[in-house]
Amino acid sequence: MKIAVLPGDGIGTEIVAEAIKVLAVLDLPFEMETALVGGVAYDAHGHPLPEATLKLAKEADAVLFGAVGDWKYDKLERQFRPEQAILGLRKNLGLFANFRPAICYEQLVDASSLKPEVISGLDILIIRELTGDIYFGQPRGRRIAPDGAYAGAEEAFDTMRYARPEIERIAHVAFQAARKRSKRVTSVDKANVLETFQFWKDVVTEVGQQYPDVELDHMYVDNAAMQLVRAPKKFDVIVTGNMFGDILSDEAAMLTGSIGMLPSASLNASNQGLYEPSHGSAPDIAGQGIANPLATILSAAMMLRFSLNQPQAADRIESAVKDVLASGLRTADIWSSGATKVGTREMGDAVVAAITTKTTTKG
Ligand code: IPM
Ligand code: MG
Repeated sequence: MKIAVLPGDGIGTEIVAEAIKVLAVLDLPFEMETALVGGVAYDAHGHPLPEATLKLAKEADAVLFGAVGDWKYDKLERQFRPEQAILGLRKNLGLFANFRPAICYEQLVDASSLKPEVISGLDILIIRELTGDIYFGQPRGRRIAPDGAYAGAEEAFDTMRYARPEIERIAHVAFQAARKRSKRVTSVDKANVLETFQFWKDVVTEVGQQYPDVELDHMYVDNAAMQLVRAPKKFDVIVTGNMFGDILSDEAAMLTGSIGMLPSASLNASNQGLYEPSHGSAPDIAGQGIANPLATILSAAMMLRFSLNQPQAADRIESAVKDVLASGLRTADIWSSGATKVGTREMGDAVVAAITTKTTTKG
């Protein structure tokens, strides 16, 4: 089991270190190799996704990723910005299926800005197409005014585009995931305005005919954004394109109280995957030892389940996280009065302790 470890920028190094600590106590034969990615890679090698890093990722069974980005790179040309590393990894590894579960942990219902009854028991899964749409469509760019009328560019443009096979394969992923849950899929589009998303809706409907046991409905993205805060528990599996999925998954994450809790998995057709927390690099709190490592630890659990075929080890991590929350430990982002505030490292240690205690009790 080869794991490429790419901690990246900001809090990335701190949170990935905790996930590795947790993986280490599972006593499984992992081979881990670490490489630079994002801003730190640009600083060292002049590129956010150096050849060597990409090669390591391609050759691994799974990639454990921290986060990339820092405001200090905002002025760089786009191709050198840290975000290009994650986009490049997704495209080069063909990681088209992005799983972003939004689960409300019972102990954290009060951390959400929504009323407890709206989110208590929430367990939805956003499946975001990750290698197409306006993120990657060509052409894109800026047009310079021929007569030099404007100092910069005259206009800028991106292309929203989906090819049939791209929609078909993500639709299959969604229907199959729904079969393991409550057999309901909501496909989110903007078919009332965009040709691309009328096509999306048509193709998802076609694929849906192969899954008569799964209930499919369609929703416009603006309405979906509203329903997600109004009655999020009405959803089960949501499938949508790259752009809408980016936005809705952040919204869904906040329903649960903290984006610091949510893992994600990005898979290709051969189940090779990249696993990362749903949150970013949080440069404002980097180096302070206060970031929540649980999203990354839970991403490692997803990695064990989806790419490394170790579902029991994944269960052990997930149940250890629940135990730790139940014991009242909280990092700052999920802290509320009465709970014990801990830092990044103490949270990781607590998960390790919860795993090892259970192992010993079981003998
Ligand atoms: C995400 C992030 C990325 C995206 C950025 C960092 C490129 O927001 O994973 O949701 O837009 O996909
Ligand atoms: Mg995003």
